Amino acid sequence: MPLSKKKRIHSWPVRICHWINLLAMIGMVMSGWGIYNADPIFPFTFPQSTTLGGWLGGNIAWHLAVMWLMAANGLFYVVWGIFTGHFRRDFFPFTPRTVWRDTVRALTFHLPHKLGQYNAVQKLMYVGVLLLGVLLVLSGLSIWKPVQFSGLVWLFGGFDIARYVHFFAMSGVMLFVVVHVLMVLLVPKTFVAMITGGKKISTEESADE
Ligand code: HEM
Repeated sequence: MPLSKKKRIHSWPVRICHWINLLAMIGMVMSGWGIYNADPIFPFTFPQSTTLGGWLGGNIAWHLAVMWLMAANGLFYVVWGIFTGHFRRDFFPFTPRTVWRDTVRALTFHLPHKLGQYNAVQKLMYVGVLLLGVLLVLSGLSIWKPVQFSGLVWLFGGFDIARYVHFFAMSGVMLFVVVHVLMVLLVPKTFVAMITGGKKISTEESADE
């Protein structure tokens, strides 16, 4: 007989890390847009009201300060997710077929949602945003300390390309947030569970199909 024990839909480390990450992301993106504005790589700048820090020195100070919060929080979440088996259990498996099936279901409003069980689109998106996070950190290190991390700069194909990579990875996260929030709006009860933890369910109930 399979062993089953009770656990919350979202355990406390997931919830704490998720909401700290959101705050840190807002700080990183807004200060990052301010830094971008000082030397844009595209023919547009971000409105001053969407930036953080007031002037370039302030933008950089915010970016580097919030960076530590984000790195510590992200590192804890990733190590915790790997060692507790959370990633393996809840983010996998998914295949192109299940992602396609759940995309069609979501677009036609036929996607069933069971709290504590991610659909294939969510799994792909969560793994994708984690990889984008890794890319943001590596490209960010390259443009922050290009001399110390010259090997990384070389891997990216140079400082300028690392800047583009950093920008596009940020854009990817922004796209993630838009789709992610739309999906939450489709099933608002997931939002409550991400704050309170939700009811206790047996681990079998939350297992993958
Ligand atoms: C940069 C911003 C964000 C990132 C990177 C992010 C990332 C994630 C990740 C990785 C998960 C899965 C957590 C896990 O099981 O370990 C998740 C779940 C969730 N997120 Fe976000 N999130 C962001 C913003 C938001 C925002 C703004 C909201 C609120 C509207 C939100 C609401 C939720 C909810 C409700 C869940 C649980 C979904 C479910 O149970 O089906 N997230 N998020």
